[in-house]
Amino acid sequence: MNKRAELVVGLEESSFWMPFTANRQFKKAPRLLARAEGMHYWTPEGREILDGTAGLWCVNAGHCRPRIVQAVQRQVAEMDFAPTFQMGHPIAFEFAERLAKVAPPGFSRVFYTNSGSESADTALKIALAYHRARGEGQRFRLIGRERGYHGVNFGGMAVGGLQANKKTFGPGVAGVDHMRHTHDPARNALSRGQPVHGAEFAEELERLCALHDPSTIAAVIVEPVAGSAGVLVPPTGYLERLGAICSRHGILLIYDEVITGFGRLGQPFASQRFGVMPDLFTTAKGLTNGTVPMGAVFIKDSIYDAFMQGAEGIELFHGYTYSGHPLACAAGIGTLETYEEEGLLTRVSSIEKYWEDAAHGLKGTRHVVDIRNCGLIAAIELEPRAGAPGKRAYEAFVKAFESGVLIRVTGDIIALSPPLIIEKPQIDRLFDCVREVLQAVA
Ligand SMILES: Cc1ncc(COP(=O)(O)O)c(C=O)c1O
Repeated sequence: MNKRAELVVGLEESSFWMPFTANRQFKKAPRLLARAEGMHYWTPEGREILDGTAGLWCVNAGHCRPRIVQAVQRQVAEMDFAPTFQMGHPIAFEFAERLAKVAPPGFSRVFYTNSGSESADTALKIALAYHRARGEGQRFRLIGRERGYHGVNFGGMAVGGLQANKKTFGPGVAGVDHMRHTHDPARNALSRGQPVHGAEFAEELERLCALHDPSTIAAVIVEPVAGSAGVLVPPTGYLERLGAICSRHGILLIYDEVITGFGRLGQPFASQRFGVMPDLFTTAKGLTNGTVPMGAVFIKDSIYDAFMQGAEGIELFHGYTYSGHPLACAAGIGTLETYEEEGLLTRVSSIEKYWEDAAHGLKGTRHVVDIRNCGLIAAIELEPRAGAPGKRAYEAFVKAFESGVLIRVTGDIIALSPPLIIEKPQIDRLFDCVREVLQAVA
């Protein structure tokens, strides 16, 4: 056991208020990770854990990749921090140029944040300010979707559609409404890839336009594939219809690509996979391979240009002390180089079929009621235990960890999203483990 791990033995009184965690339950029976490399973590006792979740959907290139580690080490020794308010440092500009090169054509502007939550709020604020800059300041409404997750800050929480994340935090942001979600298990259960039914759910946006008057709506934000709500893949034709309605009414379409960005769906970004372009899209996580916290909003050139008119002065009163932090930029450049050298932004297209077959191989396994997949993402939905929703999946998660595999659960859904470097035997191991734990839990 290493020294730091020894310190945390006996966590029950620990000062660390853990995020999105049942603190008392966890601290009585902690699960600790002390080291990582490639596809694996190791516990403080040295037990190897296969990472089925890329940390938290972020370590797309696998853990502790040398180029990224070295880039951060070099940068921290050279310049630890420098401001980006009315000042600049070369690496922040260099990283933005490199990002613009991997972005879809027409998205050559990048605004740095420190997380997915900040990216969501930044994109919403840019949308509002853009309309105002063009003399359409009456567009103040923001539309999200049920079961959407856009982080935990006030803007993202408001447009998000997960009740548990909202209910204890007051009335939130004014002028927000939601479309219905796209989940339709009665028609789409066990779909492989995009479900066939449900393009018509996009018409919900027309309903909200009729209700509110479209000229009051600034933006619609959706995850191309909803992750945190349990992996909801867009029905065929849904995003096309949503995009068309937005264009018809001058509403900006924002994609939250915090989990779909940087190769998870077999293309650099989900917009390229689905062939429907947004006006802005948010990223984080895979942007720096999770190594240093960072997010980025990609902005269509015409939107940026609308801000660069008129008298010179600060064009957007928004930003974070750590926007463009040198260490994050160094990690990001190391990450892009690793993605490029190993073809990771498109690698998933070559393993997606194997992944899909392995996931759907769980059909008929005890407790399984639905299986969904897209790119290198899979969800296995379980029948909830009577009177104890979420318990069965949680027990499966604990058992999987005990047998050396990290999975993630949300409610009664197991969500899998390993690093994009995963090999076929590791895919087999992951799904074999899920099968075994499902046989074992009551
Ligand atoms: C789609 C999406 N948006 C935003 C976020 C929030 O990101 P962060 O936790 O970095 O604030 C997440 C996190 O999982 C996410 O999945």
